[in-house]
Parts: sequence; structure tokens; C-alpha cells
Amino acid sequence: MNQRYNTLVSDTLKAKELHRPEFFRLHNDSDRIKFNKLLDSSNIFLHDEIYDQLKELMKVHHPTVRLSADDYTRLIKEHLGKTDIKDYGVWVYYPWSCKLVHMLDEDEFIELRTSANRNKITTVERDLLAEKKIGIIGMSVGQSVSVTLALERICGELRLADFDTLELNNLNRIRTGVHNLGILKVYAVAREIAEIDPFLKTVCYPEGITEENINDFFTKDGKLDIVIDECDGVDMKILCRLKAKELHVPVLMEASDRGTFDVERFDLHPDRPILHGWLEHLTIDFEVLKSLTTAEEKLPYMVPISGLETLSSRMKASVIELQKTVTTWPQLASSVALGGGLCADTCRRILLDQFTDSGRYFLDLETLIPDKRPILSEIQYIKIVSPITIDEIKELSNIALKDIGPGDKKLTHDELKKLIDAAVQAPSAGNCQPWKWYYTNDCLLLFHDKSRSVSFGDFEDIGSHIAFGATIENLELEATANNIGVITHVFPIPDKTLVAVFSFTKKETQDLLYQPEILSKYIYTRETNRNFGVRKPIAKNTLDELRKAVVSISGAELIIRDSPEEMNALSDIIGGAERLRLLHPEGHYEFFKKELRWSYEHSRDSADGIDLATIKISASDIVGLQLIQDPGVVKLLREWKAGSSLEDLARKSVNSASAIALITMPQYSPANFIAGGRALERMWLKAAELDVSLQPMMSATFHFARLIHGNGQGMPGFMKEEFTQYYKKYEEIFPGIRNKGEVFLFRLCIAEKPEVKSYRIQTDKVLSFG
Ligand SMILES: Cc1cc2nc3c(=O)[nH]c(=O)nc-3n(C[C@H](O)[C@H](O)[C@H](O)COP(=O)(O)O)c2cc1C
Repeated sequence: MNQRYNTLVSDTLKAKELHRPEFFRLHNDSDRIKFNKLLDSSNIFLHDEIYDQLKELMKVHHPTVRLSADDYTRLIKEHLGKTDIKDYGVWVYYPWSCKLVHMLDEDEFIELRTSANRNKITTVERDLLAEKKIGIIGMSVGQSVSVTLALERICGELRLADFDTLELNNLNRIRTGVHNLGILKVYAVAREIAEIDPFLKTVCYPEGITEENINDFFTKDGKLDIVIDECDGVDMKILCRLKAKELHVPVLMEASDRGTFDVERFDLHPDRPILHGWLEHLTIDFEVLKSLTTAEEKLPYMVPISGLETLSSRMKASVIELQKTVTTWPQLASSVALGGGLCADTCRRILLDQFTDSGRYFLDLETLIPDKRPILSEIQYIKIVSPITIDEIKELSNIALKDIGPGDKKLTHDELKKLIDAAVQAPSAGNCQPWKWYYTNDCLLLFHDKSRSVSFGDFEDIGSHIAFGATIENLELEATANNIGVITHVFPIPDKTLVAVFSFTKKETQDLLYQPEILSKYIYTRETNRNFGVRKPIAKNTLDELRKAVVSISGAELIIRDSPEEMNALSDIIGGAERLRLLHPEGHYEFFKKELRWSYEHSRDSADGIDLATIKISASDIVGLQLIQDPGVVKLLREWKAGSSLEDLARKSVNSASAIALITMPQYSPANFIAGGRALERMWLKAAELDVSLQPMMSATFHFARLIHGNGQGMPGFMKEEFTQYYKKYEEIFPGIRNKGEVFLFRLCIAEKPEVKSYRIQTDKVLSFG
């Protein structure tokens, strides 16, 4: 058995490259000898259906007559003349399958095989098309294109290029048999074409297209009339277009997603830039292109080619799952079949001068044949709050100022501006800057403008209250630096829209501030640092200094965790929280529509939100964000219980940090969060002084608050469950946390300084006078 097995394997291997049939015309003596020898070999399958072919041919020759059996016999006899039917036509031998087939010879074969094309393709057009040469690079969609071109007989020669072999996972879209596994795709396609039409010329490029053979591919034995690009390599995509442009050959490309289809008519418009000009901002030098090896390097080229925004949500979501739960870009047989049809139809019309345009087109079946059932919006519960009005501000001021009088100091306009300029440097979640300031009767009032902060994350205004604590701290520090005393009344009335009232005195320092002379110097340089760091321990005395700053606020505590086990567990928790936040329709909407600023101009003009440039992430991470911003994508990821890549950024941040720390207050209450915000700002300013970088990582904290204090209200079941699990782990890392006010979770790191600073809304836009 072993010997026999080995012989069979070796014989099959020898046959791997066979893709050309052999022809035997028996009126030719040498062919007859070879043919007879072949008949003697043992394992031949012989198919002789020549009589039926002749019958069909007679029918085509006499379209007006209904032929009887006798008519056929007579007509065929006349047609054969003296030739024995066994010798008529041609015998074609397919050596890879040992099949010997008797068929009509070339002219009659073509006439009969294409007879049902008429008159969608007339005989004159058929003959014109038979002169044409089409090159196809890449044999996935390319297989479908090539076979369709062959079936329709849109050309007389097909040049096929691909270096890949057939694998089982190709068989979801490439129509071939399992016996072809391991065979070069070009040969499988050439075989299939030969089995449909042995007279169609195929030329295979089993090494794919290379710099060395591209000239041959385009010009050997006559210039190509069309090239169809279905390859994956960005360098080849560009190289083949440069060549096509030089030789004035049109290029087609079908992307098997939403019927995305490109036509570039370099034959008619040789000056048009390749890929519709989408790469004009990049270097188009083949030496550079060849050297691109990593996905990261190729991305700037691939993104404009694939047109990220126009990909289907399923494709985007699948790309996000690459290397997580899937291994390759998905392609479906239906799309590939459609692609074959699209390319073949356009080729025919180009070759027959029935179509002259260039451009990107979509034959998106979901749009053309839509499901008309109404789509329920997923973000039905987004809260919209109107901005606070001056009338509301005045009304609340009047109530508060009944009990609070001015101090002995009246601020000048410059002094007031200085204080508020410093106050608004405070951090706020998503840089939402939830404040409005009002100066009246020599008192300054701080209001909560909920229209700026309302979000799924800001459960019970926790995030806003923390920001208010920080802004109050800055104001007092700046006042002290300017020899102005401040008396602060936090939540002076039950309505918490009024956060604080400040009156001013000539007293020079605030007794309760912590190191005001030092910390006030860092108000403008404190910043969130989202750069990845290097995990190095932070010196004990630095951590002690940070702790002292925190505990200077009564009741505040700082807990620092830096063991590898704790950091790993926190990476799971923080990463998981970021994922769940983005998978939640409201969290997703808020992050992409309210928080994130994609460009410098956008963040400068809005003067709020988080500038993407402050998140120093790789080009592929940015592409990931662009893909995830489609709500359809997160909906799918949710359904698939997938999306682990949404954790990657947060995980990298935690994994490159020196420690994760948490500020707590004794109670869960708005006043405690304000005080905690003050503690946080003290510590953050101290960190700026000591050159330690800091990044809040609050997704987990905010959602835990909703889970514990709001019974997970608004969270879908899976999210509640996962947060409950994460909270269990969290309690192990921070024992007793359930009974405290969790103010601020953040990472401490040693990292490069951020290149851009966050913007603030100008003081005159947030300050009014009464
Ligand atoms: C309560 C609160 C929560 C925050 N949460 C996060 C967070 O989860 N991730 C993050 O990168 N930054 C977070 N930040 C930082 C803000 O985005 C940042 O302060 C704001 O964009 C202004 O930038 P700056 O700190 O550099 O001045 C948070 C800030 C506050 C006050």
C-alpha cells in the first residue's frame, strides 16, 4: 500500500502544472498514431457526444425549420460527406483528468457554443471580441471574472497571474473541486477554461506579476486590451496601474463588497491620475512601495484604495475582528460571482465601444434590493438637555445671594478674567467643560451647564462634579497667587445647577490650600498624557508627594497599585470597560459624535472635546477608530459577542504604565465628588511639578457607579453581567471600595510629553455679568 501510495502521490505531483489540453485531428497521421496510443493506455475516460453536437449545429444552421429525426440524419450525413464520424472534428485530451473528448473543431465549436449569445452579442461583435486580450491579476474574484469572460467569450486570450495555490478556505468562493487543492490558482482557472472552451488561449503567470514579467504580461504577443486588478498587494496594484497608464490600457477592479467597482480609462484619458487621484498625497515610487512590509506601512495606501467609509458595516466589523476571531478579509461567493459578472459586462462594453467612463461605482445589492422594514434607532434614549439660560442663571443667583453677601474685595475685570482663565484649565471628562460663570454683586457664581456634560458615562453628574472640584481648586490657587482671598460656598442652595458661589476678600492666602505658591505655577502646564509609556517604577518619594497632595483634602485617599498581577487584572477591567462603553449605543454615540475631534481644525473650532492628536496612536489604530465609528459596526460586534480589539488601546495604556491609582472619598455624594475633584487637581498639579505623566481612565469607574448606585440602569443584560464580573475583580484589588466614593481612577506613567494641548472655550464665551 505504501509503495502504491507513494507512486500515486508522485504521479499526481507531476501533473500539478498541467493546464493545456492536447488536440488530435485524425485526418493527420501523426495525430492518429498518438491518439491510438492514448486509447491503449488504461485509465482514460472517453466522451463521444459528437453526434449530438452535430445535431445542435444543424439546428443552428436551420433556425426557421422544425427538424425531424430523419432531417437530422440526412443533414448530418451531408455535412460529414466522406468523413467517418469518428474522425470528424477534433479529439481533445485533458491530461490532468485523463478525459478524452470528441468535439466540433474550432470554428464550428465557437459558432455553436456562442449561438445563444446572439444577438446580445452579434456574430460580428463576437468575431471582434475574439481578437481581444484581457489580463487578470489575482485569482479569487479573478477566477470568477476569468471564467465569466471565457463563458461569454469576450476575448480570444486571457493572461492569468497569481502566485498562490488553492487552499480549502478558498473554496467558499472559488468554484473548483477539492482535488485541485494545492494546485496553483492560475492552473486551476486555465484548466476550467480549457474544459469550457479548449480553443480559448490562456497564458499563465504562476509567479504572479513581478517587475521582471510585467512587460511581458502587458505586451508579449500583443498588447492587452484591458487589465483587471484583483490582487491584494498594494505595490502590485500601483505598479500595474503605472504600466497600464504608460501603455494606455484600461484597468478594472471589483472589490467583492457592496459591488464596489472601479474603472480607469487610461486608454481614453492617459493623463488621469491612477486610482482616481486618491493617492496623490503619497509617494508613488515603486522602490518605496516594494519596501513596504508591515500593515502599518501599507495602510496609508490601502485606506484610500478600499475607501474605508464606503465599506459595508459587515466588512468593517470583520476587519476589526482580524487576528482576533477571523484570519482574513471575508469574501462571499455571491459577491465574487457578482464581481465576475460586473467585470465581464463592463469589459464587453468597453471592447465594443459602448462605455467610455471612469470612476468608482457601487452595485450594492442591499441598497438596490433593500429590506423595507423600519430600522429602530438604537439611541432612542440619548438625553438632550438645553443649554442653561441667562434667566435660569439669574433666578438661581437671586436665591443664593439672599444669604451670601460680597466680600470686602471687588474684582477688576482683568482680575476676574485671570481667575476664570485659570479655573477653566481644569480637566473635565471628554473635555466637555460643563461650566458657566456669572459675576454679579461682586460675587462669582459657577453653574452646571448640563447640556455640555449629559452623557451615559456621567452617571448622577459624578464626572461633572469632579471637574467642578478641579476648577474650584484652580480658581482658588490663581486667586492666592494674585493675593486675592476667596470664600467658596459649594452647593449653597438645594438646586445643584448652582455649583458654587465665590466672594472675594483682601486677605492674601487661603489657609486650606495645599502649596499654593508651587501648584499655581502648573495650572497651565498640567495635561492629560495618553502616550504609551515605559513601565518603570515611580520613585517612592514621588508617590509620597502625590499622596500628600491628595490627603490634604479631608477624607481623600490615594491607593496605588503596581504589582504585575494587579496591573494585569486592571488591564482586563479597564480594557473591558472601554470595550463595553463603545459597544453601548449611547456610549458609542457620545464618544464619536460628542467627544472625539478627528482633526486639528475641528478641535480648534469647537475648543472642546478630545483631539485625536492627543492620543498618539498608530495609523492602523486610527483606521480602527474610523471603522468603529459606524454604529452598524458596533451593533454587529455586539451581536457577535466580539470586539475585543476595542480593548487594545486601553490595554496598551495600562500595560505601558508604571502604576494604576485611585482617589477615594469617604462617601458617595456630590459634595464628596467636588472635594475629590479638588484633591485630584492638587495631585495632578503636583505630578506636573514632579514630571510624572497622568491619564484618567474612568470608563470602569463611571460604569461601576451606574451598576452599584443605579442598579445598572440603561445597561443591556450582557453589559450588566460583564460589569458585575469586572466589579468583583475590582473589589479584590481595591477592598472596601463599595462603601466609599470612588473619585478618580488613573494611570501614572513615564511617557513622552503630548505634542498638542487641549483647547478651552474662551472665557468671554462662558462668563456673563449681571
Ligand atoms: C472626570 C474626568 C474623567 C476623565 N476620563 C478620562 C478617560 O477616561 N480617559 C482619558 O483619556 N481622559 C479622561 N479625562 C481627561 C480629560 O479628557 C481631559 O482632562 C480633557 O480632555 C482636557 O485635557 P487636559 O487634561 O489635557 O487639559 C477625564 C477627566 C476628568 C476630569
